[in-house]
Amino acid sequence: MILAIETSCDDTCAAVVDGAEILASTISSQDEAHAKFGGIVPEVASRHHLELTVPVVESALDEAGVTLDEIDAVAVTAGPGLIGALLVGLSTAKAIAAPRRLPLIPVDHLQGHVAANFLAPEPLEPPFLCLLASGGHTLLAGVRDHSGHEVLGQTLDDAAGEAFDKVARLLGLGFPGGPALQKLAEGGDAGAFELPVAMARDPGLDFSFSGLKTAMVYLARDLGEEGVRERRADLAASFQAAAVGQLTSKLKRALKRGEWESVALGGGVAANGPLREAVTALCEERGLRLKLVPLRLCTDNAAMIASAARYAAPLPYPEYLSYDAFPSNRLPVPAT
Ligand code: KG4
Ligand code: ZN
Repeated sequence: MILAIETSCDDTCAAVVDGAEILASTISSQDEAHAKFGGIVPEVASRHHLELTVPVVESALDEAGVTLDEIDAVAVTAGPGLIGALLVGLSTAKAIAAPRRLPLIPVDHLQGHVAANFLAPEPLEPPFLCLLASGGHTLLAGVRDHSGHEVLGQTLDDAAGEAFDKVARLLGLGFPGGPALQKLAEGGDAGAFELPVAMARDPGLDFSFSGLKTAMVYLARDLGEEGVRERRADLAASFQAAAVGQLTSKLKRALKRGEWESVALGGGVAANGPLREAVTALCEERGLRLKLVPLRLCTDNAAMIASAARYAAPLPYPEYLSYDAFPSNRLPVPAT
């Protein structure tokens, strides 16, 4: 039985997981606190985590119907993420584990997104190819076992979710922008504006979203305030189609190599309807198995951290007392 804590960004999350079974997964979103700033303010996130972590852990234990005496290990996101936010989760995890002499399991946040696929009711067994797209990361992960993944390609600049959020802001939508942009796009024409397809001729598996974002900024400038207001839905639909197009074209390229029979999606952008539909169609066409985790497991949560922890190395007491969080990506950068 693992208690997991996730505070790498703006959501305060705790979960209790027994094997692959989720007994409780509690998420306290800070969206409202950051909305007025139009994006995540790291120090505001840390301060909210400080207030929310203990009640969120208590609520997860309550919902699972267990006490700390029944917990075998404490798992926590150690990075990558906002350093202040990570430190709140890590310190809380140490403070829960140390007096009980429980082991502590530090987890890589991205491996957490991959491990969301290992949870019940229908765990996906490796090997599989996982497209991970969130507000902070966009990458193709080759998953050959439960304990890690190989980065086959990643964004060279903005993350897909970051592009959704920035374009949403341009269109006067709130934060986070992804879900609102998807909704607005429903009433728009995806073919209304021609947008650049980044890295189209690049033979590798890397992504780039900054050119698309810049193209949207220029389009908005040329249309003027009034024009943007009138064409908001078309702008949203055209951007969404271009972003989904880039994600799926790189996925297709990775599949061309013929190694993978199963595909999975992860990260907040994996909640995007048109992306899910496009990947579903692609997998049906090629006879590949597709795992789409439920939306609440796509965006940040602690159940995925507990899931990754089942296959990660636990640190015994008191070794972890000096263990530090890591803010940046420690994963190996693929050779070009
Ligand atoms: O994985 P996540 O919860 O946090 C990070 O680790 O970043 O992902 C959050 C990101 C945000 O950029 C949000 O706008 C995006 O996922 N997102 C979406 C949708 N739902 C969330 N993007 C597009 N369409 C959605 N439906
Ligand atoms: Zn995430």
